[in-house]
Amino acid sequence: MTEISSTPTQTIESAGAATPPELAIIIPTYNERENIRPLVRLLHETLEGNQWEAIFVDDDSPDQTAAEVRALSHEDQRVRCIQRIGRRGLSSAVIEGMMATSAEFVAVMDADLQHDERLLADMLEVLRTTDNDIAIGSRMVSGGDNTSLGGLRQKFSEVSSRLARKILGIEVRDLMSGFFMVRRAVVEATVRDFSGVGFKILMDILASSPHKLKYVELPYSFRPRQAGDSKLDANAAVALVLTLIDKSVGRVVPTRLVAFLMVGGFGVLVHFLALAAALTVLDARFVVAQSIATLIAMTSNFAINNLFTYSDVRLRGWRWLSGWFSFVLACGFGAIANVGVASVMFAGAFGWQLSALAGILVGTAWNYGVTRMYTWRQG
Ligand code: GDD
Ligand code: MN
Repeated sequence: MTEISSTPTQTIESAGAATPPELAIIIPTYNERENIRPLVRLLHETLEGNQWEAIFVDDDSPDQTAAEVRALSHEDQRVRCIQRIGRRGLSSAVIEGMMATSAEFVAVMDADLQHDERLLADMLEVLRTTDNDIAIGSRMVSGGDNTSLGGLRQKFSEVSSRLARKILGIEVRDLMSGFFMVRRAVVEATVRDFSGVGFKILMDILASSPHKLKYVELPYSFRPRQAGDSKLDANAAVALVLTLIDKSVGRVVPTRLVAFLMVGGFGVLVHFLALAAALTVLDARFVVAQSIATLIAMTSNFAINNLFTYSDVRLRGWRWLSGWFSFVLACGFGAIANVGVASVMFAGAFGWQLSALAGILVGTAWNYGVTRMYTWRQG
């Protein structure tokens, strides 16, 4: 047997006695390889004299961002990498980064140099010396600037900020900011209530806290992106709506269920259109037309759910096809459950309306539950 402790050159205590970082900067990345080194250099300069670490959370970027981060962490121990496989999503990446540090303060920042890193020192100072919970990098308070975002995006950002402020009753001007610093204790206390979908992690934190969080907004100018492209697309807008739903009624109904139901409602429309087309254009028999319409509606429901409801675990290529198959199969059983329950109730003299409704409810719950478990298995 080898005696591990036979030649102690260092005690565990002294070997592990480096000063822990006071600040962790969480940087979600997707295809940002070119930006990693310039960003860490800027952090190094602006945070001179502070104990910090940078945690990059990469979703297995095809451009090898994670490899670049790991290469850099061989040169600079303050740099760390979390590489997630088969996952996408800015908010969930940030949450995982936050849970991977023991630093007292946690900042969130984009990798593309659009956020002015010099603000970090001010944010740190504010949190150290006041009782604020969050310091927010803001483009919407006097002294801030958002023109680099580009016309339409800027408008969208402002309108959604205003809308979200109304719905959630939060006063923060730049609610869509992706640049802020928060006490880790606040995150720890509320992380289980985060919705974790989409881009709006700041909004998520503010809306999830049981008591109003104290915050300051520090102005900065949003800079043009350095290298690579923005990943925000139409999907981000949908994700925002989902977050808003989650934060307003989400405590009772899970967001995904709401999205699933909305897609299902849309599916009814698709079904009727397809049915009408099959009956008139193809001149098909009703059974045939109804079957075609069902298949088309199921396929469109699957595709839309895959795009939006489950964008974080979206299926592609072959997995799209096998996912489609399991979805159709599940919904087939759902239809059987639907008809079964409705028939039993109808036989029990419940009246056709109530029986049908019960059938639909059971069928839908089945479809939601089973496809959630099998078609879009999550992490
Ligand atoms: N891990 C991970 N996974 N990172 C991601 C993902 C993802 O799915 N999508 C984007 N990122 C990373 C990017 O690599 C970048 O570092 C950061 O998240 C922000 O993404 P961008 O694509 O640069 O966003 P943007 O510049 O268009 O939007 C910015 O402005 C918005 C305000 O309108 C961001 O700061 C948003 O957070 C902000 O809400
Ligand atoms: Mn950006």
